[in-house]
Amino acid sequence: MNDVLPADVCLWHHVEDAIRRVTTAYGYEEIRVPVVERTELFHRSIGEQTDIVAKEMYTFVDNNGESLTLRPEATASCVRAGIQHGLFYNRQCRLWYMGPMFRHERPQRGRYRQFHQFGIEAFGWQGPDVDAELMLLSNRLWNVLGIDDVTLELNSLGSPESRERHRHDLVAYLDKRRSELDEDSLRRLEVNPLRILDSKNPAMRDIIAQAPELLAYLDTQSQAHFEGLCGYLDDAGVPYRINPLLVRGLDYYTRTVFEWVTDKLGAQSAVCAGGRYDMLVEMLGGKTVPGAGFALGIERLIELVRLRSQAPTGWHPDVYMVMLGRAAEAAGLRLAEQLRDRGVAVVANCDGGALKRQLRRADRSGARIALVLGEVELSRRVATLKPLRRDVPQRSVAFDEVEQAVAAVLERPA
Ligand code: HAM
Repeated sequence: MNDVLPADVCLWHHVEDAIRRVTTAYGYEEIRVPVVERTELFHRSIGEQTDIVAKEMYTFVDNNGESLTLRPEATASCVRAGIQHGLFYNRQCRLWYMGPMFRHERPQRGRYRQFHQFGIEAFGWQGPDVDAELMLLSNRLWNVLGIDDVTLELNSLGSPESRERHRHDLVAYLDKRRSELDEDSLRRLEVNPLRILDSKNPAMRDIIAQAPELLAYLDTQSQAHFEGLCGYLDDAGVPYRINPLLVRGLDYYTRTVFEWVTDKLGAQSAVCAGGRYDMLVEMLGGKTVPGAGFALGIERLIELVRLRSQAPTGWHPDVYMVMLGRAAEAAGLRLAEQLRDRGVAVVANCDGGALKRQLRRADRSGARIALVLGEVELSRRVATLKPLRRDVPQRSVAFDEVEQAVAAVLERPA
């Protein structure tokens, strides 16, 4: 679990602002769901046999004896909230969210126990056009943030029936090669054989390559859905790669699954992942409402943004107010308020100090301008304006011209 220190918050704001702009551009509305839910919600949605539910949840019993869990993801919470508040009642809805998620995984680069997701969920559309919209939206976010080292991978898990037929053949195939399976795959063979396809163990590569392919088992409708999606992406000029081994680690998916992957983040290659979940609303007690969505790991996205040279650096004030003596403080703080009224960010010196010391603090703050008020300035009703980041001489500015002079140095309208 990480602290985000002030020097990095600027980058977080930059990414969060881009997310807000892009979601608005596609007509998605923000939803804020609690960080804690009843444990049962995740068991029923993500699936008992998944790594998340079996091994990674922060679960505790509260004072009422109720089992609660820190959310490991927010799709289930969006569905719960939608059912509870009638958001799906006779209408479709486009939602987005952002916030912390919790998984007790082995921490490494790009994988944390508290991490942040930005997610999108679209409820009420059955066709592949909304699946394509999700991919276009994420693609736009990469463009806005100047990220070009991510690749879209696609697969279809088909319907529960087609998946069952595939599972049957997959288990029969793997059973024949049981002696070659690693320990993890042997365990998965019993509980979640599809996940074996996701194994990262090189020793399993050959076995997986020859395994029955999900796409060969698709029912006619899922096949048409998948072809439709590929058609929309082709039309929109969004490149993708079909990855028949892409299976995802949550049980609620049907048909489309996708991931945006990168080779820039070491072992944690998935930046953004999601898919369609047409049975989930019903599974959690609602009507039959199709859904599709994705979630993106903000820490991973931030690391990609940081790899670019133009990534914004820390926040700096516009002006540092240097004040020498009690009377100068009174005038200086008034001036600072006037500048703040105009949207100028002013850090006022606190705890006094000699001129040299205050100027050193001004420099360290990263401010572009120091405004100095001492006895001499006060008697003449002027401030000394000292540009700190440009090689221009300081000058005296009358009190009622300070706003304009500051705006000129900042190159903003007065
Ligand atoms: P997920 O694949 O479990 O899907 O997570 C989505 C993204 O969250 C991952 O691709 C990764 O970028 C980030 N992420 C996951 N775990 C961690 C971690 N421990 N540390 C840092 N980042 C992490 C879901 O959560 C689904 N709810 C996505 C979805 C939404 N499907 C449909 N709608």
